[in-house]
Amino acid sequence: MGHAETPLCPATGSKSEALKGDIRIPGDKSISHRSFMFGGLASGETRITGLLEGEDVIATGRAMQAMGAVISKQGDAWVVRGVGNGCLLAPEAPLDFGNAGTGCRLTMGLVGPYDFTSTFIGDASLSRRPMGRVLDPLRQMGVQVTSEPDDRLPVTLHGPRAPAPISYRVPMASAQVKSAVLLAGLNVPGITTVIEPVMTRDHTEKMLTGFGAILEVETGADGVRTIRLEGRGTLTGQTIDVPGDPSSTAFPLVAALIVPGSDVMIRNVLMNETRTGLILTLQEMGADIGILDPRQAGGEDVADLRVRASDLKGVTVPADRAPSMIDEYPVLAVAACFAEGETMMPGLEELRVKESDRLAAVARGLEINGADCTEGEDWLSVRGRPGGKGLGAVSKDAVVKTWLDHRIAMSFLVMGLASQHPVRVDDSAIIATSFPEFMDMMRGLGARIDVS
Ligand code: S3P
Repeated sequence: MGHAETPLCPATGSKSEALKGDIRIPGDKSISHRSFMFGGLASGETRITGLLEGEDVIATGRAMQAMGAVISKQGDAWVVRGVGNGCLLAPEAPLDFGNAGTGCRLTMGLVGPYDFTSTFIGDASLSRRPMGRVLDPLRQMGVQVTSEPDDRLPVTLHGPRAPAPISYRVPMASAQVKSAVLLAGLNVPGITTVIEPVMTRDHTEKMLTGFGAILEVETGADGVRTIRLEGRGTLTGQTIDVPGDPSSTAFPLVAALIVPGSDVMIRNVLMNETRTGLILTLQEMGADIGILDPRQAGGEDVADLRVRASDLKGVTVPADRAPSMIDEYPVLAVAACFAEGETMMPGLEELRVKESDRLAAVARGLEINGADCTEGEDWLSVRGRPGGKGLGAVSKDAVVKTWLDHRIAMSFLVMGLASQHPVRVDDSAIIATSFPEFMDMMRGLGARIDVS
């Protein structure tokens, strides 16, 4: 059952005593999706430990099973027997990606060039999101597309008999679009080229190389990246240990900073620099975040974070940092509510097309909880109130609308932990898409979060 049909599950975050504890964040969502996809495509066996078992990733696993991959869980490890590059089978039923933009868009790329029909569906949130950004380059490769108006789901694809490689300049900062074109290129003869003006998360490039794809990246003096992938190569199963998700880390991290007296250790966090913009920004705001035992695991940088409650100051976040913290703005806006002075966040146009219009969802949620903020077309500014006096819902009707967006739900529950009054959200069930352990983990640290 998708979340469109699931009853809403309201929840409340309330003023909490100091948060204390030592936690290990579940696996990174981006790497988990790609582990199932690339493992399902590669020849032989892929063993994955630390996989995020959220609904989004499970939907990707089901899609790969529907196209021939064999996936099972053996103890702590997920074991995937892949079909071999170019050998996916036509799915017999529509592929249902639920709430997951990454699973849906990357799989569209993966199967688009195949000479068979595949149909993509999702929940109400995913069905509102633009798919043209992925369908346009697929059309250039010769893929036939049928969709709802404005390239919305459901979408049906049918690849050409002889797909042609393209050279594609990604028009927005999007790792999903970059990745979809590269994955399409895996089943197209010749060299597929992706030009990326602004660097986004590079998990697809790194992981495909690990699976044996012939891929080269050239970075110009101006920072523009040109990625060339040789199509129809062999991919071979790998062993993957998925590091902890920095985007999930953001919630206990901000909670520990804003709840007075807190001291929390967060272990095994992915520190890939295309993902660490939030940590840098919070440090500029005066956050006490110790980066301990930096090390390499499975080709990625990881570290443990020791986070202590801090007096934060407002900053202006450089617009060009947005790709490295794109999913973290809702919770940064919450941190900014407790900082002295103004935090200005420009360059946020992509927030309008996430699981919700996150710019509007955050601004409305902050307003009904007494925060002082201004929403621009592509920016948000927040003027904080150290100590949280007056923040939170003054009336019982002040309930944050989450729009089937897990990060809106988690951000506002965190806000309640340090606000004078509780903060209520209309739904917490959606959190299971990316961070099923959120409630238990936060309560284990001492957070007062109630489901009602
Ligand atoms: C993701 C890319 C980002 C991000 C999403 C995961 C990925 O989306 O918001 O949560 O795994 O490639 P965009 O590419 O739309 O920015």
